Amino acid sequence: MTEPGYDAVYRKSIDQREEFWAQAAEDIHWNRKWEKTLDDTAAPFYRWFAGGVLNTCHNMLDLHVEQGRGDQAALIYDSPVTDVVRRYTYRELRDQVALFAGALKQQGVSKGDRVIVYMPMVPEAVIAMLACARLGAIHSVVFGGFAAKELATRINDAQPKLIVSASCGIEGKRIIEYKPLLDQAIALARSKPQHCIVLQRRQARASMVEGRDLDWNECLSAAQPADCVPVAATDPLYILYTSGTTGVPKGVVRDNGGHAVAIKWSMGAVYDVQPGDVYWAASDIGWVVGHSYIVYGPLLQGCTTVLYEGKPVGTPDPGAFWRVIADHKVNALFTAPTAFRAIKREDPTGEYMKKYDRSSLRTLFLAGERCDPDTLHWAQERLGVPVIDHWWQTETGWSIAANCLGIEALPVRAGSPTKAAPGYDVRILDEAGQPLPDGKIGSIVVKLPLPPACLPTLWNNDDGFLDSYLREFPGYYATADAGYRDEDGYLYIMARTDDIINVAGHRLSTGGMEEVLASHADVAECAVVGVADQLKGELPVGFVVLKAGVDRPHDEIIRELIQAVRQKIGPVAAFKQAVVVERLPKTRSGKTLRGTMKKIADGTEYKPPATIDDPAILDEIAEALNHMRSTATAGRS
Ligand code: COA
Ligand code: AMP
Repeated sequence: MTEPGYDAVYRKSIDQREEFWAQAAEDIHWNRKWEKTLDDTAAPFYRWFAGGVLNTCHNMLDLHVEQGRGDQAALIYDSPVTDVVRRYTYRELRDQVALFAGALKQQGVSKGDRVIVYMPMVPEAVIAMLACARLGAIHSVVFGGFAAKELATRINDAQPKLIVSASCGIEGKRIIEYKPLLDQAIALARSKPQHCIVLQRRQARASMVEGRDLDWNECLSAAQPADCVPVAATDPLYILYTSGTTGVPKGVVRDNGGHAVAIKWSMGAVYDVQPGDVYWAASDIGWVVGHSYIVYGPLLQGCTTVLYEGKPVGTPDPGAFWRVIADHKVNALFTAPTAFRAIKREDPTGEYMKKYDRSSLRTLFLAGERCDPDTLHWAQERLGVPVIDHWWQTETGWSIAANCLGIEALPVRAGSPTKAAPGYDVRILDEAGQPLPDGKIGSIVVKLPLPPACLPTLWNNDDGFLDSYLREFPGYYATADAGYRDEDGYLYIMARTDDIINVAGHRLSTGGMEEVLASHADVAECAVVGVADQLKGELPVGFVVLKAGVDRPHDEIIRELIQAVRQKIGPVAAFKQAVVVERLPKTRSGKTLRGTMKKIADGTEYKPPATIDDPAILDEIAEALNHMRSTATAGRS
């Protein structure tokens, strides 16, 4: 009997939604089976597998050991920046996680408590995440490239009982000390953790706060292994903060049951990887890709996951990815297009690829930002394996649109992440909420209910959840992406409809950056727009209008603004360009024309909107940008 193809699987996932996911849920070990596959009694707050009881960590580690995978590598830590490669079998990882869970328990962490993990890409970060899952505690990983203030905001919202951190991260050749940032964040935060457990790395020694800070190794040596604590399917597994339309991040909640079911199912259906395969997501555990596909997905599926502490280039060269693939026999690689643009820039003819045996690699998956056809074609030609773009968000936890290789490999169309993934009823609507015909760009929405693993709500903020995602188009989840569907059902994701930009696959809020610029004493008003960049996809550019009477040198003010964004948001914002302008272009009703400014900066064609207050301002903006670019070029030469 032939397996059903994409169309049949997709239709079943929409028409017999509960049956479809109940079948997928059979692949998970439950302590108690769920009573209701989809609980819609509090719609639009839906709950998957209500009444079910499980432990996610058990499904990722203990179960595989029990089923005979104890000696298989669960995690390979490959760190070119420290010259270390370390392998953990499933048994070793289970034991380490159980012991660290015991250490957390000793500090009073139990089910429902929050634990912030602020760590670089070291195995201890994964161990900390899974130890939380083991206890039913809720982890919230904060990306290392964020500044102390961003960390403080997350501490205030999550109110963690404990924070797990490390003395430093390593960015290429630079040591980034994490501990001073953590201390500063705790000083800034209203909510204080009872303890911090700090991993001392040999590259930097953190100074410890007496009575509050505990050493990772000492905690482990005093601990007893802890067992898995069964939790409700609907209990939160983690909170992951992501950029919203203001400087305040949104705490995306992920539940235990729906998450385990859909993420495990996606490993086979979307990525076509099986237990025993080696899966490498070259991302960071601070992002959703890292959560779903460095940590949870591969381990739920019994794969070997690679945890890579390095960059695509410079650690030590553009052959880094091919070296890792050859050394660990990677079967599937997942990264962001920007990583490939960085490699392509340094090794346009793919010379470094030829040095390594890449025969294990079956597929390359790309996501996190729009995949430009040039990068897609370059990767396809050089690698000689299918290159699969897929589209998703922190909120969904897995792909909304993908070429589901484990179901049926559909022809790849450059510029499209292929078709809606099973479970997602994707529609394209106009501003009035009416469906648009094929080929017409509109808001991309998903008809409720969302499939399992998608956010059930925002942390402690049900109303914010409704406001951000459900109120604009009643009955639908608004993705905040705009795009269209072609006549064959292929989706094209073109732009965000809010102020989010994508810098090197990192999601950032221009609104958050504007808040920082506006708080400078000399700034009257400002706008930040994402401008096209050949390497990072987009880069933020700030336009500032100074207060009357400010006569300090503009260069000096701009330097301060750049520094302020770095200090308040973090280096990851990559905010390095700003110009002083006389005024901002606005509509007659006072709305800043950011879209038009972006078009001017990108050099794409634009028509001044009919509602513009004074079209002459647009020439001033173009001139200021030219000036900024010519001085930047002069500065570099
Ligand atoms: N801790 C501290 N600082 C960090 C950090 C971390 N975990 N991650 C990044 N930073 C810093 C960088 O050092 C850099 O600082 P700088 O301004 O002093 O140079 C800044 O944040 C910007 O980082 P990034 O955007 O990553 O730029 P980069 O020039 O260091 O590297 C790429 C560019 C393309 C090589 C890199 O972005 C990359 O590998 N991207 C892969 C895609 C990816 O991981 N996407 C995530 C979602 S899938
Ligand atoms: P994040 O929440 O950080 O994963 O960012 C999600 C956003 O990144 C999406 O809303 C899109 O704007 C963008 N994005 C992610 N993947 C893709 C893709 N494959 N194509 C186009 N845009 C993408």
